[in-house]
Amino acid sequence: MVLVTLAVAAGLVSTVAAKTCQNFTVPVTITSRNAVLNNFAVPSSPLDASTFALNITRQGGNATAMALTGYATISGTYNISAQWCTPNGQKSTGLQILTHGIGFDKTYWDLAFNSFSYSYVNTALSQGYDTFAYDRLGIGNSSHGDPRNEIQSFLEVAALAELTRQLRNGTISTIGSGYQKIVHVGHSFGSAQTYALVNQYPTISDGIVLTGFSMNSSFVPLFGAGNNFVLANTNQPFRLGNQPISEYNQAVQALGQAGISAQSAQVQAFVRQYGLTDYLAVPSPMTAPPLNYPDGYLANRDVNALQYLFLLPNYFDMNIAYYGEQGKQPVTIGEALTLGSIPMMNKYAGPVLVFTGSNDLPYCGGDCLATGGVGPSIPAAVSMNFPSAKAFTAYIQPNSGHGLNFHYNATAGYSYIQNWLKTQGL
Ligand SMILES: *[C@@H]1O[C@H](CO)[C@@H](O)[C@H](O)[C@H]1NC(C)=O
Ligand SMILES: *[C@@H]1O[C@H](CO)[C@@H](O)[C@H](O)[C@H]1NC(C)=O
Ligand SMILES: *[C@@H]1O[C@H](CO)[C@@H](O)[C@H](O)[C@H]1NC(C)=O
Ligand SMILES: *[C@@H]1O[C@H](CO)[C@@H](O)[C@H](O)[C@H]1NC(C)=O
Ligand SMILES: *[C@@H]1O[C@H](CO)[C@@H](O)[C@H](O)[C@H]1NC(C)=O
Ligand SMILES: *[C@@H]1O[C@H](CO)[C@@H](O)[C@H](O)[C@H]1NC(C)=O
Ligand SMILES: *[C@@H]1O[C@H](CO)[C@@H](O)[C@H](O)[C@H]1NC(C)=O
Ligand SMILES: *[C@@H]1O[C@H](CO)[C@@H](O)[C@H](O)[C@H]1NC(C)=O
Repeated sequence: MVLVTLAVAAGLVSTVAAKTCQNFTVPVTITSRNAVLNNFAVPSSPLDASTFALNITRQGGNATAMALTGYATISGTYNISAQWCTPNGQKSTGLQILTHGIGFDKTYWDLAFNSFSYSYVNTALSQGYDTFAYDRLGIGNSSHGDPRNEIQSFLEVAALAELTRQLRNGTISTIGSGYQKIVHVGHSFGSAQTYALVNQYPTISDGIVLTGFSMNSSFVPLFGAGNNFVLANTNQPFRLGNQPISEYNQAVQALGQAGISAQSAQVQAFVRQYGLTDYLAVPSPMTAPPLNYPDGYLANRDVNALQYLFLLPNYFDMNIAYYGEQGKQPVTIGEALTLGSIPMMNKYAGPVLVFTGSNDLPYCGGDCLATGGVGPSIPAAVSMNFPSAKAFTAYIQPNSGHGLNFHYNATAGYSYIQNWLKTQGL
C-alpha cells in the first residue's frame, strides 16, 4: 500500500498565489494531407519495436521513403486537452501557445515536481503573459488515433493552426474574447511543428520560440536508437496500457509478501534498483482512467533511456528523472516518420528565437558548440532557414541537455526567453 504514495505526485495545488488555471477540451475539425506508410508494419510485439528502431536508424536510408506508399487526405473532429493559465485570473493581452515534444504532454511546461519550481508556465505568468498548453493530438488526454497513417506531424500542425485561429478570434467559450498577440513556443518535436506552422501560415504567429531545436539532422538517429523503443501499453501496463488498477494493488501486495519493507524510502530504493519504475507507474490521479494506447505507440524503455535522451549528468536532481519517467508519454510511428518532414526554407517573417541546451543530444549530438569552426553553434545555423525573419537570435542555455525543463537552472533560462520576447515588443 505504501507504494501508492510513490505514484507520480501530480494533482498538487500550485503554491504560486497569482496563478489561475483551467483545464478543458477544445474540439477541432481539421484536414491534412498525410503520408500513407503501409510498407512498415505497425509494431505489435515487443521485438517489432526494435525492428522499427533499426528501420529508422539505418545509415544512408530514408525510412519515410521506404515506408511510403502514397498520400491521403485525413479529416476529422478531434478533442484537444488544454490547460489555460492567467497570472491573476484576469486575461493579459499576450498569449503563449506551448507545444510539447516527444516523451511528454502539456505538463512538460508546468511540472508539479518540487512545488512547481521548474515551471515554464510560472515564469511566463510572472512576466505578465497568459499560457495555453495542450496535449498534442494523439497524446495524453487529447484524442488518440491510428498510430501509422493518422497521428502524424501534418495532422498535428493542422490542429495547432485551428487552435490558434480559435484563440485569436475568441471562439473558445471558457476563454472568451480573442487574443491580439500570440506567440508560439515549442520544445523539440513541438518546435518542429511550430516551424512547420509558421511556414504554412506565415501571419499566424507574432513571434516564435523554438526550444531544444536545430536544423541539423545528423544526430536524430541517436534519438531513434537511444529510446530503446518498446510498446507503450506493455511498458507501463497500468498507465499507458489498460491493465485494471486492481491488478496493480495485487502487485503491491505481492511485493509486501516478498518481505519488502513498508518504509517508503526502502521501497523506493528497491523499485529503482530493480527497474520497476515503469511497471509500477499509475495514472495521475490514480482514479483517472489509464491512457490505453493501441499498438504502434512506442515509449522509451526506462529511466536510463530518458537520461540518455534528455538529461545532462550533474545538472539535474535524480528524483526529477524518475518523476519524468513515471509521467512519460509515447510517440507514434507516424510521428517518428514525419518528424523531419519540414521545409528547409521557411517563409516566416516575424521574430525567431532558437533556445537549445548546451549539451542537447538529438539536435547537437551532445555538444552545440562543436561546429568544426563553422559558426558559433549548431542552433545558430538555423538563421539560414529563416531568410525573411524580422529578427533572429540563437541562445545556448548552459549546463543543460535536451530536456531543458529538468535541469536545475531551467527557470533562469525561461526568464531569458521572456526577456527576449519583451525586446521584440511582444
Ligand atoms: C488540471 O490538469 C493538471 C494536469 O495537467 C492537473 O495536475 C490539475 O490537477 C488539473 N486541475 C484541475 C482543477 O482539475
Ligand atoms: C521494417 O522495414 C521492413 C522493410 O525493410 C518492413 O517490411 C517492415 O514492416 C518494417 N517493420 C517495422 C516494424 O517498421
Ligand atoms: C525522405 O523521403 C520523404 C518521402 O519521400 C521525402 O519527403 C524526404 O524529403 C526525404 N528526406 C530526405 C532527407 O531525403
Ligand atoms: C470529445 O469529448 C466529448 C466530451 O468529453 C465526447 O462526447 C466526444 O465523443 C469526444 N470526441 C472525440 C472525437 O473523441
Ligand atoms: C473563428 O475561427 C473558427 C475556427 O477557424 C471559425 O470556424 C469561425 O468561423 C471563426 N469565427 C469568426 C468570428 O471569425
Ligand atoms: C487527464 O484526464 C484525467 C481525467 O480523466 C485527469 O484526472 C488528469 O489530470 C488529466 N491529465 C492531464 C495531463 O491532462
Ligand atoms: C551537423 O553538425 C555537425 C557538427 O557541426 C556537422 O559535422 C554535420 O555536417 C552537420 N550535419 C548537417 C546535416 O548539417
Ligand atoms: C543559468 O541560466 C542563465 C540564463 O541562461 C545563465 O545566464 C546562467 O549563466 C546560468 N547559470 C548556470 C550556473 O548555468
